Amino acid sequence: MRSLIYFYKIIKLIYYQIDQAFSWIFTWLKFTLNGIKFNDFVSKGRPIVRVSISGKCYIGKNLELNSGKYYNMIGRQQQCYLIVGPNATLIIGDNVGISCSSIVCNKNITIGNNVKIGGNTVIYDSDFHSLDKEKRNSIPEDLSGIVTKAVTIGNDAFIGSHTTILKGVKIGENAIIGAGSVVSKDIPKNQIWAGNPAKFIRNI
Ligand SMILES: CC(C)(COP(=O)(O)OP(=O)(O)OC[C@H]1O[C@@H](n2cnc3c(N)ncnc32)[C@H](O)[C@@H]1OP(=O)(O)O)[C@@H](O)C(=O)NCCC(=O)NCCS
Repeated sequence: MRSLIYFYKIIKLIYYQIDQAFSWIFTWLKFTLNGIKFNDFVSKGRPIVRVSISGKCYIGKNLELNSGKYYNMIGRQQQCYLIVGPNATLIIGDNVGISCSSIVCNKNITIGNNVKIGGNTVIYDSDFHSLDKEKRNSIPEDLSGIVTKAVTIGNDAFIGSHTTILKGVKIGENAIIGAGSVVSKDIPKNQIWAGNPAKFIRNI
């Protein structure tokens, strides 16, 4: 029985090594074919990447992406999504780690250096739909006047898993956001905020 367990562990180890090599090649192709300016990275699993022809995406050094159910097993896994719309700009700094999260940039999202983004987080800089029901319900949908506001996440911030960061939010340097928070207002630097809506917990 023991040898069967060891055999299983070794096969699993080999499988993950091969899978990670394929993940890297897949991600490299996705980044390159989407015109992203990037540096060295680690990518476990296969992210979904879509950068509009007029969109821009810059990624700093040492990005680490975990995508899908076998990487970063915190539950509710999805792939990482890096989505950049027309004329929008997504900037990701150095040493950033993103697990199973979705970043949808329709205007401007800037993520500083050393930012860690926990699994199942979503970051939006727009409402996606008009707040006017006539426009929202028209066929085809009238997408004019949709509110978009830039999102900024400062250096060294730590975003707990399952967090939702909404348009216009600035998260200060070294701030920590608790798991499952909804952030709709600015968070000062060096503070912990959590909850829905996120509220001040304590200074760091
Ligand atoms: C925010 C966090 C760092 C705070 O940790 P802490 O300083 O040890 O805080 P405590 O557990 O002492 O809680 C302090 C207060 O904040 C509240 N709180 C903590 N985390 C919270 C959360 N995620 N949502 C709402 N309230 C939260 C507690 O209920 C407590 O409230 P009280 O003072 O009224 O009793 C931690 O709770 C957290 O959410 N960690 C993120 C983990 C994570 O997602 N990792 C990434 C995995 S990929």
